[in-house]
Amino acid sequence: VVTILPLLFLGDWRLLVPPLLSYVVTYTTIPFISEFLLKANMFGLDIGKRGTPTESKKIPEALGIVPGTTLILLLCLSLPLLITTHPSLLLPTLSSLFTILFMLFLGFTDDVLEWPWRVKLFLPAISSIPLICVYEGSTSVLCPVQLKGIFWREDGELTAFSDTISGLITAYPNSPTHLINIKYFYYIYMSLLSIFTTNSINIYAGINGLEVGQSIVIGGSILVHNVLSVGKGVNVEGSFFSLWFLSVFLGASLALCCYNWYPAKVFVGDTYCYFSGVIFAVVGIHGHFSKTLLLFLIPQVLNFLLSIPQLLKIVPCPRHRLPKYVVETGLMTVSRREDGGMNLTLINVALWVCGDMKEEHLTALLLVVQVAFSGVGFAIRYGGGSGLFFN
Ligand code: UD1
Ligand code: MG
Repeated sequence: VVTILPLLFLGDWRLLVPPLLSYVVTYTTIPFISEFLLKANMFGLDIGKRGTPTESKKIPEALGIVPGTTLILLLCLSLPLLITTHPSLLLPTLSSLFTILFMLFLGFTDDVLEWPWRVKLFLPAISSIPLICVYEGSTSVLCPVQLKGIFWREDGELTAFSDTISGLITAYPNSPTHLINIKYFYYIYMSLLSIFTTNSINIYAGINGLEVGQSIVIGGSILVHNVLSVGKGVNVEGSFFSLWFLSVFLGASLALCCYNWYPAKVFVGDTYCYFSGVIFAVVGIHGHFSKTLLLFLIPQVLNFLLSIPQLLKIVPCPRHRLPKYVVETGLMTVSRREDGGMNLTLINVALWVCGDMKEEHLTALLLVVQVAFSGVGFAIRYGGGSGLFFN
């Protein structure tokens, strides 16, 4: 529904073939690959079931490798078609495939080797270089009304400060739209974006279905945004690029979700978190909506901001911050650090506000929250929300 309904609005049934193929390939391959992963000792224990009979059941880990490989495979197979129909998309596609492969590799090695944090930050930055190097879009952004005075005088001419920094940030006199060209900073922003999308999904995790569920909501929201853009005839090529990658991604993710939903038969692993994160960065950058993208990641931004004290080790950060299972009630409860304070995650905040609940209800609640925040994102993007910052 998430993929098919928005795509149907474009009126071309052939658009449904890639996501359906992707769903079928992923769905049928997961059980098979799970066996191999178990044989290779790639499994995890479901910490959220501690104290239950399923506690010591080996659950195959890193199943994100299946949707990841499926997407790479399907996109490679469609390259000959792309060259004939959309030759201008070849370079962005190849650079994206490179970056996605690099992140899949990093994610899978993280599942095997458990990288330290500095590696998790460093490698996504490197892997984003091919993506950014072929970026051909604008590096201009709208200047928020609150900052206009820095660049323009009342009469529309540039301020002295604006002239001084014009080598780094260029503003234009008498610009009615108040566009500023932030040049190198835009490239830095795109690199930081891929570090953020990959890691923010990975740290908003730990209960069955949450990693893949949030990715489906985010991907579905972007898909709707792209379909609306195509419908309005705005940024058609960028939106087409994004729809192509996202529909295949969503097909594969929905198949993975069938196995990862409570009670999880497989774990998606860091492989999937990095894979989905990099997909969002790729479509945002080459689809030319890398700022709108952040509007669909509000819960991830909140969880990241909340996590900063623990990520920076200002307060202790245990290996796992996921909520705690209470054997007596069968419910999940807020998890605590060794010093007694609660782990600073959005999952714990939800439990703190709404009270203890079953794991599947917690995942469902957090996904409803994700959908609600997507609604807020759409309101800001399409409604009057942006009037607070831009005019
Ligand atoms: C991140 C989080 C960590 C969280 C973990 C769970 C930070 C800084 N790190 O670490 O707090 O506990 O993800 O994914 O926020 N697991 C379950 N049930 C699930 C999913 C995972 O019990 O539904 C457990 C399994 O034991 C699985 C393990 O989490 O093997 C995977 O953890 P991993 O992805 O390696 O943790 P990190 O990404 O390092
Ligand atoms: Mg992880």
